[in-house]
Amino acid sequence: IMEAKIAPSMLSSDFANLASEAQRMLTFGADWLHMDIMDGCVQAHFVPNLTIGAPVIESLRKHTKAYLDCHLMVTNPLDYVDQLGKAGASGFTFHVEVTKDNWQELVKRIKSKGMRPGVALKPGTPVEDVYPLLEGVDPVEMVLVMTVEPGFGGQKFMPDMMNKVRTLREKYPKLDIEVDGGLGPSTIDVAAAAGANCIVAGSSVFGAPEPAQVISLLRTSVNK
Ligand code: DX5
Ligand code: ZN
Repeated sequence: IMEAKIAPSMLSSDFANLASEAQRMLTFGADWLHMDIMDGCVQAHFVPNLTIGAPVIESLRKHTKAYLDCHLMVTNPLDYVDQLGKAGASGFTFHVEVTKDNWQELVKRIKSKGMRPGVALKPGTPVEDVYPLLEGVDPVEMVLVMTVEPGFGGQKFMPDMMNKVRTLREKYPKLDIEVDGGLGPSTIDVAAAAGANCIVAGSSVFGAPEPAQVISLLRTSVNK
């Protein structure tokens, strides 16, 4: 069984108090901090929302040693590698939909900057699309299966995506498989049973009266 990593999505935090919000989550038992990097509200870009960039990661890094699990919902991930590496990002997860033949270069570059490469897929993207990235000399080390359309926190979990998780888990028993979107006490059991071990949770953690209880429940479900 793969180790559980519980990653509160800082998208649901009070951005004006990011350092203390991060510290609060770590005290509550978070393993990772999930940082959603989005590239803007224009049609031509990846998602219709603009969140944070490398300067914010750099500022946060000065306040914590935590694993910063960066999820890049951007059209040109390659453009962000150097700046995020310098800023102190830990994981760099890009979307398969925007990578063409350049993923090998991208993965190499991510590793050379000391970050851990991951690949994400949107709900409409077939799981087979990530297979090539899991083979060869420089494979990605995590697959993020989106369980909502990327862009915003607080959306409804899509249970149909568990087929992708199951398929990946059967094929890759030792892979880190992350699920992102709508995870919380009512949806964790299906995700864990399908084989997800890295759990992103924004609104269910930040909106809870006792976030520590939610974090511990998510972990228990993955570990059982
Ligand atoms: C959505 C982001 C998620 C989001 C999850 O595009 O990738 O990380 O913050 O938020 P919840 O857990 O509220 O669905
Ligand atoms: Zn995310």
